[in-house]
Amino acid sequence: MAAVGLKRNRILAFIFATFVVALALYFFLYFEQDLRNYLASRMGPRARAEDSLINIPKLILFSLLAFLGVRALSTIIFDFVFRLRRGYEAPTLVRNIFSLVVFSILFLLIFNRIYTEVNLGALFTTSAIFGVIIGLALQDTLGNFFSGISLHADRPFQVGDVIVVGQQKHTGVVESITWRAIKIRTFQNHVVLVSNSNAAKEAIEVCPRDNLNARIVFFGTLYTDSPAKTIHVVREAVRDADNVSPKITPIVRIRNLGESSIDWEIKYWLEDYAKYNDTDALVRQRIWYALRRSGLTFAYPTRTIQLERKVAPKPVTAEEQIADRLSAVDIFSPLSPEELQKLAAATVGHVFAPGETLIRAGDEGSSMFVVHNGRVQVQVTENGRPRPVAVLSEGDFFGEMALFTGEPRTANVLAIEETEVLEIGHVAMKHLFETNPDLAESISWTIAERRASLAAGSQQLAQASIEESAGLLSSIKRFFGLR
Ligand code: CMP
Repeated sequence: MAAVGLKRNRILAFIFATFVVALALYFFLYFEQDLRNYLASRMGPRARAEDSLINIPKLILFSLLAFLGVRALSTIIFDFVFRLRRGYEAPTLVRNIFSLVVFSILFLLIFNRIYTEVNLGALFTTSAIFGVIIGLALQDTLGNFFSGISLHADRPFQVGDVIVVGQQKHTGVVESITWRAIKIRTFQNHVVLVSNSNAAKEAIEVCPRDNLNARIVFFGTLYTDSPAKTIHVVREAVRDADNVSPKITPIVRIRNLGESSIDWEIKYWLEDYAKYNDTDALVRQRIWYALRRSGLTFAYPTRTIQLERKVAPKPVTAEEQIADRLSAVDIFSPLSPEELQKLAAATVGHVFAPGETLIRAGDEGSSMFVVHNGRVQVQVTENGRPRPVAVLSEGDFFGEMALFTGEPRTANVLAIEETEVLEIGHVAMKHLFETNPDLAESISWTIAERRASLAAGSQQLAQASIEESAGLLSSIKRFFGLR
């Protein structure tokens, strides 16, 4: 909106200026003869002196009009015709050259018409020394100017591309290419100006905006970890990260068999290369979480250190913490402490990064999860858009629907923040059902309620689905082979 207002003001100012200059010129020409007569009568014998006095403002007014005409012509050609034809903005340098050349020609024509007695050709040819002086003084400027022209002719990069220039490896997004220099905005938000003549001499690495540019990120794992598993785990963790292009699957490969690690590299392609710093960081974060979940380990230089241990009070074991957590889950409240302990021993803990998907709708699933720390969001996709259904936090469980019915997952579940979940598999649940027949019933109630709220949350459907729970119960029993 502000830009449109600014443009309108500029157009109004332009029309006003043209009007004023044209009016001034009109009056000037109208009274020119009177002015000449008046000056001639006042100056008397100093003949022709009045000519100079009259000609100077005349030259100025005509030149101003020519200048405004060139501006208008340049706007029409570059802002309308060029942009419509080519689909992008004309480079500033080209516009400036155009304006300068056209204006110079017009100025010389006007000058020639007004000062008929001055021989411009002779003036130019006899001023060779003057030319040499100007040439030497403008050596650098002209060098930049012609390098700028050749950059525009070659079009090796455009505004918006990321480039790396020179020995100092200035890296950033090209903001403009002017008469003098290429302006780059670096990733620290600094502006670097590389003169055109320097840029023409240096190698320039270009990462075009409309191109799928790749990045490589390094990491290392222990020799005991399976390479095949590492490749699979890391590739899957990285491929759906933000700004990683879905068009090409990332490549995970061994770069080196190092002293104390298998050295890996992952090559991935970016949608927007200008954000590569953030994306590299996200990729590293995803790798950390994925390795952690899959029991793979980052390598580190290995030393053998002997430590003297102090006798410390017995810490609370992770298993006890898990049993505590499970005892707070409402469906497990009927379980005895021994059963909870057994269930805790059978669970597997996983940690997920914020934004990561824990469950995808439509996938097969043979386990359920209890939120140990953090929060997850349950969402379904409607008309291609996610609709949040519920937020589950510590002590809540999910994934039970596929586990108990054998049907595909009904919804997506995503981590809202860093979330640790406890995974309970089919076998562990089967043991519990055998000793706690009521468990199947309370689970079938939860499933029926959740199904109802998935079915758009209508009260009627909810009621219908709750009534379904009796049917559900028998299908759960059948699925788990219970009587
Ligand atoms: P499942 O179908 O295995 O996978 C997706 C999970 O999202 C599902 O099990 C439920 O645990 C959970 N879920 C679905 N709908 C709801 C809901 N309305 N409220 C809470 N959790 C739900």
